[in-house]
Amino acid sequence: MHRPTSKPHGNRKDFDNIKRLFPYIWDFKGRVFIALSCLILSKVAIVGMPLVLKDIVDSLDSNQMLSMDNLASASLTLPLILLLTYGALRLVASLFNELRDAIFSRVRYHAMRGISRRVLKHLYSLSLSYHLDRKTGGITRDLERGTNSLSSILNYLVFNILPTAAEFIFVAIILLSRYETHFAVITFTTVVFYIIFTLMVTNWRMHYRHKMNEHESAANSYAVDGMLNYETVKYFTNEAYELKQYDETLNKWETAAVKSQTSMSLLNFGQGAVIAVGVTLMMIFAAQGVVDGVMTLGDLVLVNAMMLQLFIPLNFLGIIYRALKYSLADMDMMLKLLDTEVQVKDAESAKELKVSDAVIRFNDVSFDYNKDRKILDSISFDIPHGHKVAVVGPSGAGKSTLARLLFRFYDVASGSITIDGQNINEVTQASLRNNIGIVPQDTVLFNYTIDHNIRYAKLDATDEEIQQAAKHANIHDFISSLPDGYQTVVGERGLKLSGGEKQRIAIARVILKNPRILVFDEATSSLDSHSEQLILESLKQVAEKHTTLVIAHRLSTIIDADKIVVLDKGKVVEEGTHQDLLEKDGLYAHLWQLQQEEAEEGES
Ligand SMILES: Nc1ncnc2c1ncn2[C@@H]1O[C@H](COP(=O)(O)OP(=O)(O)O)[C@@H](O)[C@H]1O
Ligand SMILES: [Mg+2]
Repeated sequence: MHRPTSKPHGNRKDFDNIKRLFPYIWDFKGRVFIALSCLILSKVAIVGMPLVLKDIVDSLDSNQMLSMDNLASASLTLPLILLLTYGALRLVASLFNELRDAIFSRVRYHAMRGISRRVLKHLYSLSLSYHLDRKTGGITRDLERGTNSLSSILNYLVFNILPTAAEFIFVAIILLSRYETHFAVITFTTVVFYIIFTLMVTNWRMHYRHKMNEHESAANSYAVDGMLNYETVKYFTNEAYELKQYDETLNKWETAAVKSQTSMSLLNFGQGAVIAVGVTLMMIFAAQGVVDGVMTLGDLVLVNAMMLQLFIPLNFLGIIYRALKYSLADMDMMLKLLDTEVQVKDAESAKELKVSDAVIRFNDVSFDYNKDRKILDSISFDIPHGHKVAVVGPSGAGKSTLARLLFRFYDVASGSITIDGQNINEVTQASLRNNIGIVPQDTVLFNYTIDHNIRYAKLDATDEEIQQAAKHANIHDFISSLPDGYQTVVGERGLKLSGGEKQRIAIARVILKNPRILVFDEATSSLDSHSEQLILESLKQVAEKHTTLVIAHRLSTIIDADKIVVLDKGKVVEEGTHQDLLEKDGLYAHLWQLQQEEAEEGES
C-alpha cells in the first residue's frame, strides 16, 4: 500500500511532531468534538450488539424450557423486539461511523491545507542560498509526502486507533460490571500479547520490505538505463550482460519478496494463535459458569462475540503500524523544512523604506557565500540621484553578487548598503524590493502566457499598459507576430523563447513595475548588436530620472554612464568615466582594447 519513502526512525521525536499538528486540527474543534461523539456513539452501538444478542439467546433458551406449556405466545413476542433492536444497533453503528467520516473529513483536509500553506510560506521566506543548495524536486516531494502523511496519521488515529481504544474500554467496563474479574483479565492479557507480538514481528518484517523495495528500484534502474542506452548495448552486443545484471537483482528481490510473504503468514498465524488461546480460555470459563448455573447460555455467546469483535480492527494493526511509521518519517521530513531557519529576516523595528532621491551607497561592503572564499572585499561607491553607474569586470568578479545584496537576497558580512541614508537591513524587505526593478542575467519565466509573465510586475495592469511596456521593450512586434499573440504559452522556465526574447520580456516587466531604482544585470547580453541598440535606446528612456545600476559585460553599452566602477576579484580597482578610465590605461582600458579588437574581427 504505502510505498516506503524515507526510512522510519525512532519514536523520540514522533510524539513532539504529532503535538505540532494539533493547532491545525484545532481550527475546527467543534467538528472534532462532534466526530469524536459520533465515534463513541457508534462504538456504544457496536458493543451493545452482543448484549442484545445475549438477551435473544436467553429468551430463546427460556422459550425452549417454557415451550412445553405455552409455545406460541412467548416465542413470537419477546425475540422480535430484541431482534429489531439488534438490527437497529447495527444500523446506528454504521450511521454514526459514516457521520464521523463525513464530519471529520473537513477537519482533515483543512489541516492538510493549513500545513501546506504554512510550509510554502516558510519556503518563500527562506533565503536564496537555501534554495540554491536544495533540489526543488526534493523540497516539493517532502511537502507532498508530508501533507499526505498528515492525512494518513489523522486517518489512522480517528478511524482505527481511537475507535479500537474506545471499544476496548467499553468491553472492559461491561465485562468488569457483569462478570467475574478473570474475563476482563483474559481479554486484557490477550490484547496486550497480540499487540506486542504484532509490533515485534512487524518491526522484524520491515527489514525484508526495505530489501524488496531496494532491489526493485535497482532492477528498474538497470532496465531503464539499458533501454536509454539501447544503441550502445547493441554496438557492443552486451544484451546478455545487461540481462544478467537485471536478473541478478531480480533474484535478490525474489528472495526478499518470498521472505516478506512467508513472514506475513507467520504474523497472521501468530495473531490467530493468540486469539484462539484467548477465546478458548474465555469459553472454558463461561462454559464453567453455565454449568455452575451462575451464567446463562446468552452470557457465553456474549463474551465470545465481544472478544471476536474486538479483534476485527486489531487485524489491521500490523499494516497500520508500518504505515504509521512511514508517515511519521515523512512528517518529520516536512517539519524539518519548517524548522529551517530563515537567514534574511526583517528587523524587529523594521520600517518602510522611504525613497525620495533614491541615492544608493555601498559602504565598505564585504561578503562571502561560504566562509572560505571572500567574494566582495570592502566595496565602496555611491550612485547619486538619477545617475547611472556601471559596474564592469571579468566574469566571476562579483558583479551579480552586488545586485543580489542590494535586493537583500543575502545579508552583507560587514559594511552596509544604504538607500537615501536608510540601511537596507533596517527596512522591510517588501518595501525595499518594491522600490527596485531588476532585469536579471538569466530570466526564468512562468510556464504560462506571455501576458501573465509581463503582468506579473503589476497584477492589476490593463492590457493597454502591458502592450505599452512591451513596445518600450521592443518586443511588441514579435509578440504580435505569434499565432496566439500575448496568450502564447512560453513553456517550462520560458524555454520556448530565445534568450533575447526572454530578456526583453524581463525588460517589459520592469518597465511596467516602474520602480525608483533600476538594476540591469547584463540585460542585453543575449541580444545581437542590432536588437541591443534598440533595447539600449528604450532602456535609456526608462532609466531617465531613475537611479540606475548597470552591470555590463559589453563595455560599448555603458560608455555614457555617469560613472564606471571596475571590479576585479571582489575589489574596486578603478573608478571614473569612460574617458577617465581610458586615460588611466589600467584594467578597463585593457578590456576596452580587447573588445574593440573582437568587434573589428567580427565585422571583417
Ligand atoms: N550561491 C553561490 N554560492 C557560492 N558561490 C557563488 C554563488 N553565487 C556565485 N558564487 C561565486 O561568486 C563569484 C561571483 O559571482 P557573480 O557575482 O555571479 O559574478 P559575476 O561578476 O560574473 O556576475 C563567482 O566566483 C561565483 O562562482
Ligand atoms: Mg553575473
